[in-house]
Amino acid sequence: MLKLFLLTTLLLPILSLKSPAPPTSPHTSPTVSILGPPSTPTVWTHFASLQTPQTLNLGQGYPSSSPPKFCLDSLKESIESSSRIHQYTASAGHPPLVSQLCQRYSNHLSYPVTSDNVAITVGASQSLYLCLQTLINPGDEVLIFEPYFDLYINQIKLSGGTPIPVPLDYKLNPLTGCKEWLLNPSTLKSKITSKTRCLIFNSPHNPTGKVFTHSEMSSISTIISPHEQITVLSDEVYKYIIHSPPSSNPSTSPPGHFHFSNYLPERTITISSAGKTFSSTGWQVGWSVGPKNLIEPIKQILPYVQFCTSSLMQDALARALPLADQVYSYEGKEYDSYYDYLREGYIEKRDTLILALEKAGFDVPDYSKVSGGGFFVLAGITDSVKSRIPTEYLKGNTVDWGLCEYFIKEVGVGMIPSSPFFGEGRREEGEKWVRVAFCGEVEDIEEAGRRIRCKEAGEVESCET
Ligand SMILES: Cc1ncc(COP(=O)(O)O)c(C=O)c1O
Repeated sequence: MLKLFLLTTLLLPILSLKSPAPPTSPHTSPTVSILGPPSTPTVWTHFASLQTPQTLNLGQGYPSSSPPKFCLDSLKESIESSSRIHQYTASAGHPPLVSQLCQRYSNHLSYPVTSDNVAITVGASQSLYLCLQTLINPGDEVLIFEPYFDLYINQIKLSGGTPIPVPLDYKLNPLTGCKEWLLNPSTLKSKITSKTRCLIFNSPHNPTGKVFTHSEMSSISTIISPHEQITVLSDEVYKYIIHSPPSSNPSTSPPGHFHFSNYLPERTITISSAGKTFSSTGWQVGWSVGPKNLIEPIKQILPYVQFCTSSLMQDALARALPLADQVYSYEGKEYDSYYDYLREGYIEKRDTLILALEKAGFDVPDYSKVSGGGFFVLAGITDSVKSRIPTEYLKGNTVDWGLCEYFIKEVGVGMIPSSPFFGEGRREEGEKWVRVAFCGEVEDIEEAGRRIRCKEAGEVESCET
């Protein structure tokens, strides 16, 4: 009897603390149960379910346009090049693409990049996943700047690690005279423990659009450097969409993208993909570039995850990359390269969105002074915007969630609430924003702005057409 008492009162709680949460069904592994019951809605599934064919979706995280013609032509060439291209290629990466990436990253990074330093994956998401799987031991901590791209949380948990948010604060930056998302270096320092194994760095940053300056990156690297157990995973999927460089002073800020690896080459894995750059998120070609000792374990597990990333898509990208550097013509205008065209297009879309949001009363960044990259704006819900949300949408909802439900259901405009990008500790801050994307067509962004204004003015019917 005493034994049974000891077992139930002492041992069982210890066991349940140490072992993962019980499976949600007899057929579900403990790993899957980390994600919660299968029916748990995410912000993405919830708002996707509210969408109708009439919705103007400013919540989506992918461009609405097709890839540029040279990418489509490259894909056609690949399809027809040989029957071999329709078969497996090397697990660690299709040699022509690996060779392209070696050349390019040798120019960008501070060491000669060879095939030993590159692993091609299914999108940047799988790169992140495999990096975490190869680096994290159960109980290890992974630092992420908050607000964060929500994918990081479950990927960290699936690796057995614990996500540790490092808050960015929205406050006045004396250098720009504007409120911006800023890192307090002592906050980062205070989050490092003996269990910290990784920092996920992301610039341009999703969801804030922040582009970290040279001095911010340098200070992060100075803090991380003495902790030899920490590897930096630098997520750079928006590197070609820097629509507002931090400052014109190159000594303090990069004019374009600057790779974090250049601060800590021996401990950084650079992660990127082709999706955002070439409006081809469905191609799902991504990569990890880093020191051989960090890339080798990724290559070791790759064949057991899938034999290879699509040979065809890798081949097409290998053909497209050199073309992207050449003079690019679009609708009678010439650009020095495709990347210049891409940036200019996003500047127009960004300005259209900022104007629409400003007119609707949101707090938006002043991109003539503040850095910006990627295709999201984190727009502040001002008191005036909040006051216009019908009360039924706020019952049992956070303000950001209520606003997004109201907009998608009654205004026909989709946006994403910001609370999923914040941890439990910053619930209040997380309610103050919405993430709005400007990767759709200019006309759709304009129309979304018109719908919001019309709704405010009470001209609902004319806006529903
Ligand atoms: C910051 C960030 N990292 C990674 C990804 C995933 O990229 P991929 O589609 O190449 O997996 C995204 C996609 O939205 C992203 O926003």
